[in-house]
Amino acid sequence: MQFPMWVLNLFLITTFLIPFSQSQIPSPGVCSEADRAALLGFKASILKDTTGILATWTGPDCCGGGWEGVECSGVATGRVTRLILQRPLSNSGDIFMKGFLSPSLGNLHFLEIMVISGMRRVSGTIPKSFSNLTHLTQLVLDDNSLQGSIPSSLGYLRNLQTVSLSGNHLTGQIPPSFVNLRNLVQLNLAHNFLTGSIPSELQSLKGLQSLDLSFNSFSGIIPDFLGKLQNLTYLVLSSNKFSGQVPISLCSLTKLSELSIDQNLLTGRIPSQIGNLKSVSVLRLSSNKLNGQIPESISQLQNLWNLNLSRNLFTNPLPTMAFTKGLPSLLVIDLSYSGLDLGTVPNWIRNRELSEVHLAGCKLRGPLPNFTRPDSLTSLDLSNNYFSGGISNFLAKMTSLQTVMISNNLLNSDISSIRLPDQISTLDLHSNRLFGSLLSILNGKTSKFTEVIDLSNNQISGNIPDFSAGLNLKVLNLGSNKIAGHIPSSVSNLAKLERFDISRNHITGTIPTSLGLLLKLQWLDLSINGIIGKIPESLLGIEALRHASFRANRLCGEIPQGRPFNIFPAAAYTHNLCLCGKPLPPCKGKDSQKMGE
Ligand SMILES: *[C@@H]1O[C@H](CO)[C@@H](O)[C@H](O)[C@H]1NC(C)=O
Ligand SMILES: *[C@@H]1O[C@H](CO)[C@@H](O)[C@H](O)[C@H]1NC(C)=O
Ligand SMILES: *[C@@H]1O[C@H](CO)[C@@H](O)[C@H](O)[C@H]1NC(C)=O
Ligand SMILES: *[C@@H]1O[C@H](CO)[C@@H](O)[C@H](O)[C@H]1NC(C)=O
Repeated sequence: MQFPMWVLNLFLITTFLIPFSQSQIPSPGVCSEADRAALLGFKASILKDTTGILATWTGPDCCGGGWEGVECSGVATGRVTRLILQRPLSNSGDIFMKGFLSPSLGNLHFLEIMVISGMRRVSGTIPKSFSNLTHLTQLVLDDNSLQGSIPSSLGYLRNLQTVSLSGNHLTGQIPPSFVNLRNLVQLNLAHNFLTGSIPSELQSLKGLQSLDLSFNSFSGIIPDFLGKLQNLTYLVLSSNKFSGQVPISLCSLTKLSELSIDQNLLTGRIPSQIGNLKSVSVLRLSSNKLNGQIPESISQLQNLWNLNLSRNLFTNPLPTMAFTKGLPSLLVIDLSYSGLDLGTVPNWIRNRELSEVHLAGCKLRGPLPNFTRPDSLTSLDLSNNYFSGGISNFLAKMTSLQTVMISNNLLNSDISSIRLPDQISTLDLHSNRLFGSLLSILNGKTSKFTEVIDLSNNQISGNIPDFSAGLNLKVLNLGSNKIAGHIPSSVSNLAKLERFDISRNHITGTIPTSLGLLLKLQWLDLSINGIIGKIPESLLGIEALRHASFRANRLCGEIPQGRPFNIFPAAAYTHNLCLCGKPLPPCKGKDSQKMGE
């Protein structure tokens, strides 16, 4: 990804505007009354501003008076040329501006750059008055809550080079008036609710370098004329409803560095001319209905590092020879559910230094593959295959591995001998035939990086080990195994846990009161075990809980009477010894409440 122009401009502003406002030298013309009124009109329509930006908009001089995000630097003195309001980079979710986008900004007649981005709660439509901003070169309104359609009148702002409206709630079609935007270099309409086809008018945007229409509901074919926009470097149409074939014309875009047309309804073959995309480094064709053989010419793509062909209907064979010699830059390969029957992991994948290898549902058989450069792998998905045999040392040398998924295979080794690399964040081995105890995975050495462990639907036995403090587990799924013993009260050490499933095991003992300390818990399934005693009142403290099941245990006594426990469906509590109270029938007198203690 490139840095958009306006990011650069931000730096210029912060370095130049501040000295101006603090110096005694007269500022470049005191702000014009009309521009000041236009800005104050915007300020008045923002009802809440947690960025602190608008609080600086006071005093008479919007040009030299320290108004954050406002700059006057053009030939006309005292006129606002740049308005750049960007959400400060911060992880805090509480930073926003709430209100509507005031049409008064359309009175900033000398404005060249307007960036109001990441404010999240700025709503309303894009004002028609913006058609008066005839000097505008950059219009960036990303990540707000703007609604309605894209006004046709924007098509009359002939100086526009950048239009970026992504991450809003815009509806309707791309206005045909965009035919006039001959200077447009970047058009980003991603993540909205836009519909219709790509209008033929866009073929006059000869200088277009970046077109992102992803995550909308556009339909129709991908038009041939896109192949004539020779300066395109970035073409992203992912997650829409485009149908028809991949136009051969796209293969003449020799400057293209990313072509992402995944998650659409495309049919037909990958054009054999695909090898002409000399500059392409990211090629995403996944989740379509592409068929036929994968063309050999893909191997000519010298710069390709990310190849994602997953979820299609391709047929064998892969052009193995060509791939062995070609693709020198490859780092990420995804052939999952592509229709291919690979049998074994191809040598051109196994012997290369790759970072992400995803080969789920490729009909792979036999023992797990022997990767020549295991240390380079960060993500490995071999789920939904027929791998058999052991796993004990398979992961040990993958010292960079963060995510591993080998679920739904026929692995049948003792997991007590498994050796996990330190960096591992996600371990998903569900639905195999693994046996042995959990002690080698959940122990005092479990990595702080580990967030997801799914070992459900295996033959694991033994107890749930004690949990030490400081773990960062978010998901622990041990359902459908043969685990016995109690739930350790040290479960409260898993302070980040969101999902805890130990259903369908042989767990006995009581539910520890300390389980109520897991304040992030959203999903709790203890069903089909031999758990006795009461459901502790302490669980009422878990406000995040969305789903819980205590079904088919030997629990007794009153269900905690408070939300959400008293409004979960009765099925969450049935088949126990003597649970009572909402949503089950009321408890009969005080005795029944005591029985479980
Ligand atoms: C554009 O500006 C002119 C002059 O200020 C004004 O009369 C007109 O209403 C404006 N157009 C829109 C669409 O707001
Ligand atoms: C394409 O880019 C080149 C190099 O930046 C530039 O000279 C040329 O004018 C551009 N073509 C169009 C049609 O804008
Ligand atoms: C491949 O693309 C699909 C979307 O179609 C995505 O879910 C998957 O994560 C991608 N694979 C890799 C390795 O990035
Ligand atoms: C894996 O490959 C290495 C290097 O080629 C070799 O030394 C080792 O014996 C192989 N291991 C297995 C289990 O095939």
